[in-house]
Amino acid sequence: MTHVLLIGNGAREHAIAEAIRRSRWNPRLYSFMKTNNPGIASLSEKVRLGRYDEPEAIAAFARETGVAFAVVGPEDPLSHGAVDALATSGIPAVGPTRSLARLETSKSFTRNLLEKYGIPGNPRFRNFHSSDGIEAFFDELDGIVLKPDGLTGGKGVLVQGDHFRTREEALDLCRDILKSHPGVTVEEKLEGEEFSLQCLCDGRTVVATPPVQDHKRRFVDDRGPNTGGMGSYSAADHLLPFLDAAAVAEGLAITRKVAEAIHRETGVPYKGVMYGGFMSTRSGVKLIEYNARFGDPEAMNILPLLRTDFIDICRAIIDGQLDRLDIVFEKKATVCKYVVPKDYGLPEDHPEAASTSSRIEIGEVREAQLYYSSIDQRPDGLYMTSSRAIGVVGIADNLAEAERIAERAVSAIRGPVDHRPDIGTEPLLRKRVQHMKILKAESI
Ligand code: AMP
Ligand code: GLY
Repeated sequence: MTHVLLIGNGAREHAIAEAIRRSRWNPRLYSFMKTNNPGIASLSEKVRLGRYDEPEAIAAFARETGVAFAVVGPEDPLSHGAVDALATSGIPAVGPTRSLARLETSKSFTRNLLEKYGIPGNPRFRNFHSSDGIEAFFDELDGIVLKPDGLTGGKGVLVQGDHFRTREEALDLCRDILKSHPGVTVEEKLEGEEFSLQCLCDGRTVVATPPVQDHKRRFVDDRGPNTGGMGSYSAADHLLPFLDAAAVAEGLAITRKVAEAIHRETGVPYKGVMYGGFMSTRSGVKLIEYNARFGDPEAMNILPLLRTDFIDICRAIIDGQLDRLDIVFEKKATVCKYVVPKDYGLPEDHPEAASTSSRIEIGEVREAQLYYSSIDQRPDGLYMTSSRAIGVVGIADNLAEAERIAERAVSAIRGPVDHRPDIGTEPLLRKRVQHMKILKAESI
């Protein structure tokens, strides 16, 4: 029997919990959560509610429950040193130490790492700690992207055309950012199609999982504000309709080099997930950012397809033996759609932004998998909070069927909810393929 600690309370962690519980090692799951997730709680032996910025509380729970190792879901506990505190108690973890988690928490650390070690994939960029020289650098770029240094939950990036128009506005924004952050990275705006490549790393060996495309924008046709992610899909051939094997290999090659570079740079092997957010552009695959964890929603696309025992994978990551394991994913397509409160992503002063918790009811769902996120179980039923509520995943032989399964399940969830009906549909996929074709044609 294996005792495992899971840290995190979202739908991503619900999917991780399920992968752990499917193991042949008869695992007992112990979960440390910021707020109670009834989906994870139902799979757990014991739950502890606590804060992610208190690594000592996490380590204490791990000691109390006698877990063999921990799996860290979100970035918050990583950035606050949960893995370091666990290591001090002799408990290994799937997840990087605080210093290694800079791969996600510091945009400038990662850009500099790629540059220092001659790894391809960086757009043109410069880090600034004051506004000196920013204007001159703007003149070298066709389009501008601004990234505050530090964790921003994927919502702190400002893109020219989406969030601001002129260089003057960009300069004002940089000055604002520098008031509240130690630095800002200014980079070239890339054009292309984004994909997520979640890789497993034991410090030496890097293994890719099937690529996924997330949809960050709140509304249909990629309109509206950026969110944590409204849904995602993956294809049965483990490529994407707009992405060939060579492009996936490019993303993996970059990640392998980064794993080696971060080891040399810090002297510590990276054990956990290296999730590269890449963009396929007319001039090859470029790196948007790394995350030090699985994606949410992207974990829900790949973990249900995993045929290799997840606990074996965790152990191999911890022991540096991933090269000995054959990691297999079922050749199926997946479509994940997040059911969110109607007012999710709207500014607080928006007329429709109610932001009170509302009750939802889940009718009969036969085929799809449901992963709970911000869901509160009360005596009279399930309530949403103000964030993404339920990840609904359809799995089938092809994307069209996976999408239909997801849609059918979404329509069984009743209440003041919303989702993106376009995710995984043929017209949207065609648009992505067309976009890529046009970019490639322009580059010839
Ligand atoms: P991030 O938090 O780095 O994932 O950025 C959020 C979103 O901003 C990404 O998913 C991209 O859509 C966009 N973005 C970030 N960096 C760039 C870039 N250099 N060029 C174009 N878009 C970008
Ligand atoms: N899907 C975006 C993220 O997990 O950061």
